Amino acid sequence: MAEFTLPKNSKIDKKAGKTYKAKVGAKNVRAFEIYRYDPEDAQKTNPHLDRFEIDLDECGPMVLDALIKIKSDYDSSLTFRRSCREGICGSCSMNIDGSNTLACTKSIADCKSEVKIYPLPHMPVVKDLVPDLTHFYDQYKSVKPWLQTSEPANQNKERLQTPEEREKLDGLYECILCACCSTSCPSYWWNGDQYLGPATLLQAYRFLADSRDEATAERLDALEDPFKLYRCHTIMNCATVCPKGLNPAKAIGKIKQMIADRKA
Ligand code: SF4
Ligand code: SF4
Ligand code: FES
Repeated sequence: MAEFTLPKNSKIDKKAGKTYKAKVGAKNVRAFEIYRYDPEDAQKTNPHLDRFEIDLDECGPMVLDALIKIKSDYDSSLTFRRSCREGICGSCSMNIDGSNTLACTKSIADCKSEVKIYPLPHMPVVKDLVPDLTHFYDQYKSVKPWLQTSEPANQNKERLQTPEEREKLDGLYECILCACCSTSCPSYWWNGDQYLGPATLLQAYRFLADSRDEATAERLDALEDPFKLYRCHTIMNCATVCPKGLNPAKAIGKIKQMIADRKA
């Protein structure tokens, strides 16, 4: 059986975390256990879990509201990404209660009694809840996520589609690149250096499915690779966690079908 060695300082030090108590008299208290990692401290300490007790009577309803309250009232060094707080920008993705999702659309009421919050799994951590998405974005860029046409754009004329052609982009264009799917995919955990993962492949199919794009053959040539595409084993974690209700596994199946069809 293969044996793996964890990188130095990667194990959570269960004794190192602090507990921040709710104010005396608080009646509606909920605890949040949050992963903390500070690269400037990494030579001295391993990651640890801090516990924050929040009075929900003084907090908004979403997990992001609790994180903002913790940062403002308890520990200003807590680090996380967020922008729109509407499930649109995709920046507040993290692992909450054991599942990847968006902190701004995850209701505290839907979480288990003690809310456990970690960064997206199997990614290098920049600090606390912020993963390093450099490789993820490089993979996205590699599928040329823009329309490719032989005709240059005419400034006075749109590139028209029929309603049926436009409908083929439903379930694809809504992707907000939050990376919840790719970081929940076991194949991506093990082969993420070469396997493009569900988010990038869904984006690749978004342009293959677009009637206005003229680079279908080149796109399929680039994807026809045992690692880039065929590491998907239809485990379906991607569709289960997508906070926008999309189905990357289905898009991956469509790409495989297009490659098979052109060989037939
Ligand atoms: S498919 Fe869903 S989970 Fe994956 S990046 Fe897009 S919005 Fe996020
Ligand atoms: S269906 Fe494919 S892409 Fe989705 S989680 Fe499974 S292996 Fe990953
Ligand atoms: S803050 Fe934009 S998706 Fe959550």
